[in-house]
Amino acid sequence: MNIFIMGANGFIGSHLCAAILNQTPWHIVAIDRFDDRLKKYITHPHLQFFLGDINQHMDWIKTQMLRCDIIMPLAAIATPATYVHDPLRVFELDFEMNLQIIRLCAEYKKRLIFPSTSEVYGMCHDAVFDEESSYCVTGPIHKERWIYASSKQLLDRIIYAYGKRDGLDYCLFRPFNWYGPGLDDLEKSHRSRVVTQFIGHALRGEPISLVDGGLQKRCFTYIDDGIRALLAIIENKNQAAHQMIFNIGNPHENISIADLAEKILAYMAAHVKQSKQTRLVSVTGEDYYGSGYQDIHLRVPCIERAQQLLHWHPQIGLDEGLQKTIADCLIRYPMDACT
Ligand code: UGA
Repeated sequence: MNIFIMGANGFIGSHLCAAILNQTPWHIVAIDRFDDRLKKYITHPHLQFFLGDINQHMDWIKTQMLRCDIIMPLAAIATPATYVHDPLRVFELDFEMNLQIIRLCAEYKKRLIFPSTSEVYGMCHDAVFDEESSYCVTGPIHKERWIYASSKQLLDRIIYAYGKRDGLDYCLFRPFNWYGPGLDDLEKSHRSRVVTQFIGHALRGEPISLVDGGLQKRCFTYIDDGIRALLAIIENKNQAAHQMIFNIGNPHENISIADLAEKILAYMAAHVKQSKQTRLVSVTGEDYYGSGYQDIHLRVPCIERAQQLLHWHPQIGLDEGLQKTIADCLIRYPMDACT
């Protein structure tokens, strides 16, 4: 089986490539602007890697799509700070670029595995979000945060429509706060997702900002659990993933951002001297992100469909996942260890 992965050096892409190359006989064709996370695998006989920007190599992409069985367009901006500060860049990459790939999948009759997102449910009031019955609720236009959810939601609808009209073979997966080694750049100030952001601040002994007090909750899902779900989707035993949407998240690890900060700080303070100086401070969403920000207070996935059809359930709890993530950071950014 040949799998074409765009954005292969990203957080999900790089973990997926590693799992495929280590655990399966499948072949990968991959493209990304960077290759740092894939360095270890670049010469693997089952990986054909192309270093380049997907925007500038459409002819090469078309050729590879024709050769491959499964197309996974994983290149996207997925950091809320960017939704607010550069919404058009999010639209151009996440929506416009991926729309071209989706159309080609329909034209070439290729199987498409597409990253939707937990964010499509937006500010839905359901206690648990269901793929088929929950509403997708976003805010007013001046709340620019929703450009990402709106872009992804429209792509989900377009893919669904191609499925109905042309029989496009697709599967949409919705990650719920996947985290793990290599999530974002630790050194980016106020531009990363929350787990990286908090670890980075604690590494440097800087204050941790709790947006609006940190009462909002997320279900954090360790990357290895997410990747196991993707391998089951790719394998597609008995066509279980055909034209399906799956929430892939860990409903048992529904934790407030303030509690997450306490947990990360406790682990970090046990290993890094500077972390003992870190304090938790509350800031408004507007001060932290800008006026285009609006938050989601509760986001719990229903995972019954993934459990039944993919025989998948999350296996790695938050404590274990955070320890692995932090251990990786400490290797890559050695600081003064606690004695
Ligand atoms: C994320 C991103 O949109 C995507 O990565 C993805 O599609 C989706 O959700 C997902 O992974 O499920 P969000 O959970 O809001 O959105 O992203 P984070 O930046 O990780 O923020 C989580 C929460 O922590 C937010 O409430 C945010 O306000 C808060 N936060 C973030 C802080 O309190 N302090 C910080 O320094 C950073």
